[in-house]
Order: sequence, then structure tokens, then C-alpha cells
Amino acid sequence: MARGRHGGGPPRRSATVKVRSGRGRSTSSVRWLNRQLNDPYVQEAQRLGYRSRAAFKLIEIDDRFKLLRSGCKVVDLGAAPGGWTQVAVARVGRNRVVALDLLEMLAIEGATILQADFLDEDASERLRTALGGSADVVLSDLSPKTIGHSGTDHLRIVAMAEAVLDFVETILADGGDLVLKVFQGGAERDLLARLRRGFKEIKHVKPSASRKESPELYVVATGFKGGARG
Ligand SMILES: C[S@@+](CC[C@H](N)C(=O)[O-])C[C@H]1O[C@@H](n2cnc3c(N)ncnc32)[C@H](O)[C@@H]1O
Repeated sequence: MARGRHGGGPPRRSATVKVRSGRGRSTSSVRWLNRQLNDPYVQEAQRLGYRSRAAFKLIEIDDRFKLLRSGCKVVDLGAAPGGWTQVAVARVGRNRVVALDLLEMLAIEGATILQADFLDEDASERLRTALGGSADVVLSDLSPKTIGHSGTDHLRIVAMAEAVLDFVETILADGGDLVLKVFQGGAERDLLARLRRGFKEIKHVKPSASRKESPELYVVATGFKGGARG
């Protein structure tokens, strides 16, 4: 479980560490190591016991929009290694959060974890059963696997976002909220039109923990008008 609380705003960076190439390391793995070791969010995540630096993205979003209220039921899609799930449990309470990922995730006290492909036919039903009714908040940090071929990657990103919205329309309670990772250049126009029809308000957020060079950004959609029952 995460320890202590992040005070808001980007954490300060400690002294720079430099990993050298050699010892069988490729240039790209040296670059990755240097970035990880010198990333203040990675250091802060370790200090506070979060499993990923991604935790700070959700903290920033939720500090601003106040979505994760005590007692809310939450679905966390693309949850591994579990930073968002830790934040969600800490804010809404125990036994209110269902997390899903393709990858195996270590247990998080107070959360139900499902290992499954979200795009599998039975994934939605498994999530619904595990949650035991409708959700107040759906979080999606799903990142579809990309292959570097822009046409194929684009289709995968769009298909994933549409699958999330199909699911949301069947599980989100009236007035519920959605945080959805999207990628710039990923056919946002159609997606946004659908979100605007379904929710009262839509905002785009690029949290400070989201790397500037990453095309990711988050849509925060509040006040669902569809009203799933159960
Ligand atoms: C950026 S990571 C999520 C980080 C997480 N929010 C955290 O705080 O630790 C994106 C996740 O999406 C998952 N993912 C991608 N495609 C998926 C799919 N079809 N079904 C389930 N999970 C998927 C990946 O396995 C990966 O763990």
C-alpha cells in the first residue's frame, strides 16, 4: 500500500545519476535507464510506495476534478502495475475498486484484480460481476500495443477507445464520470462527438507527470447522461 501523501505539484529532482553504455547494454536501454533514474516522479513514487509514476497523473486529475469520492465504485482499466488502483482505493475506500489488465498484477489490499484482455468478449461481464452493479467512475489508462506502423496503430487506438465507450455506456451510473487516456492524432473528433452526446462536460488534461514528448492526454468526462442500471 502507498505510504504518505504527495504534496501536489511536480516533485523536486535529486542529484543526476548517469548510467554509461557498455556491459552489454544497448543505447536505447541506457537512455531508458538514465531517464528512469533521473525522473523525479519515479523517485517520488518509490518514496511514497506507489507502483508507478502514473499514480501522480491520477492524483493531479483527481485533485482538480474531485471524482474519487469516498464510497464511489470504480473500474480501473489497464491498471498494471497498479499506481492508479492504489490511488483509487486510498480515496474511495476498500472493496469498491475493480482493476483489470492483460498483465498479472500483485494484489492490492481493498481492490479486486482481474487479469484479462479488455477486448475479449467476456471481459465486460466479468468486470460487471466483480463490481456487483453500476460504476460511479470508470478510469482507463489502457495503452494498446503499438507496432510503429501509423495506420495500424491508429486503428488499434481508435478501436480501444470505442470499446471503452461501449463498456462505459453499459456500466456507468447516471451522473457518473470517466477518465480516458487518448492519443493526439487518434481520431479524437468522432470520439469527442460521442463523449459530448453522453456527458454533461468534457475537459482535456495533460497532467504534469505525463511526459511532454508523449502524445497521450486524458479526457475527463463528467455527468454521464446514459444512466446504467443495477
Ligand atoms: C500505462 S499502463 C497503465 C499504468 C497504470 N495506470 C498504473 O497506474 O500503474 C497501460 C496498461 O494497459 C494495459 N493494456 C493494454 N492493452 C490491454 C488490453 N487489451 N486489455 C487489458 N489491458 C491492456 C497494459 O498491459 C498496461 O499495463
